[in-house]
Amino acid sequence: MKKFNAVITGVGSWVPDYILDNQEISTMVDTSDEWIMTRIGVKERRILKGEGAGTSTLAANAIKNLLDKTGVKPDEIDLVICATSTPDHRFPSTASIAAEKCGIKNAFSFDLSAACCGFLYGMDVVAGFVRSGMYKKVILIGAEKMSSMTDYTDRSTCPIFGDAGAAVLFEPTEEEVGYMDATLHTDGIGYSHLMMKAGGSVLPASHETVDKGLHFIYQEGQVVFKYAVSKMSDASVEIMKRNNLTKDDISWFVPHQANMRIIDAAAKRMGLSKDKVMINIEHYGNTSAATLPLCLAEWEPRLKKGDNIIFAAFGAGFTWGASYMKWGYDGSETK
Ligand code: UT7
Repeated sequence: MKKFNAVITGVGSWVPDYILDNQEISTMVDTSDEWIMTRIGVKERRILKGEGAGTSTLAANAIKNLLDKTGVKPDEIDLVICATSTPDHRFPSTASIAAEKCGIKNAFSFDLSAACCGFLYGMDVVAGFVRSGMYKKVILIGAEKMSSMTDYTDRSTCPIFGDAGAAVLFEPTEEEVGYMDATLHTDGIGYSHLMMKAGGSVLPASHETVDKGLHFIYQEGQVVFKYAVSKMSDASVEIMKRNNLTKDDISWFVPHQANMRIIDAAAKRMGLSKDKVMINIEHYGNTSAATLPLCLAEWEPRLKKGDNIIFAAFGAGFTWGASYMKWGYDGSETK
């Protein structure tokens, strides 16, 4: 029997036009560009506006961009997975809505809920489907309308988050490229430190939950920060050691974009210089499950076949981990 690996063969992305910069944030809450830049590293973020526009809008536009760039037809797609914490609805899945918007009719589709680690976990899930030999073209999306659950009167959270969608195409390969290894973790100790308190089955929406502001992101920043620094760094170093990769072997590090200081700490532990680290937090903020593929989309023209790439993320749950991929194509040749 032939042995397949799963490899990314295309990347697409889409962000809304509206730019919410630190100047405007400073008119909403008591903060400053200086505080936000030094403590978080965000200058501006994109916000999805418009009636009826939700996460599926971001996801569908990212898929369209991906299909346009790769030349793949909607009816060739076998499976669509959308990693998100901000689905259009509790049900049906945002993946099914986005697929419909793109004319994808021959695929099954579902959402994956793992907060900021959704895309990182999703790559492992997709690799399993593709390696089975049953699925030839699988789309994995990271899409989030974070503005839909951000409290713009809370200065400790509102400068952090932004909206975006990005998608990748996975296909089987018999070459020595693709998804190589991952170390993925969850520890429920994070439950109370980073969450949305109401709107789920434990505390359904009511007048009281709305009045108390329980439908916004709740984050104990300092606690989350400490876990994020140590766990994301530990996982990244572990995946390097396990695959005998030195800092010189690594072409790119793709970290979750939650805080510039967390990214710096992880890169330092790995011994990497900044020119090998994909960083776009300044322009998009924390787009949760969308951060990793959004970085890939921006850096795609510079990626070369055989590049060793390390991904790492940390998020609510707590969820965290790192993965290792050998890039499958020369990005400079894509349109
Ligand atoms: O993506 C999922 C995982 N999430 C993360 O990885 C996020 C991890 N956490 C963080 O990135 C940081 O903890 C934050 C960016 C959320 C906060 O930064 P911090 O350095 O931990 O600030 P802090 O919460 O310790 O607050 C320090 C001070 C406080 O004032 P006092 O009590 O020292 O007088 C805050 O009230 O900064 C104040 N503060 C602000 N000041 C100006 C908090 N937010 C702001 C603000 N502007 N926007």
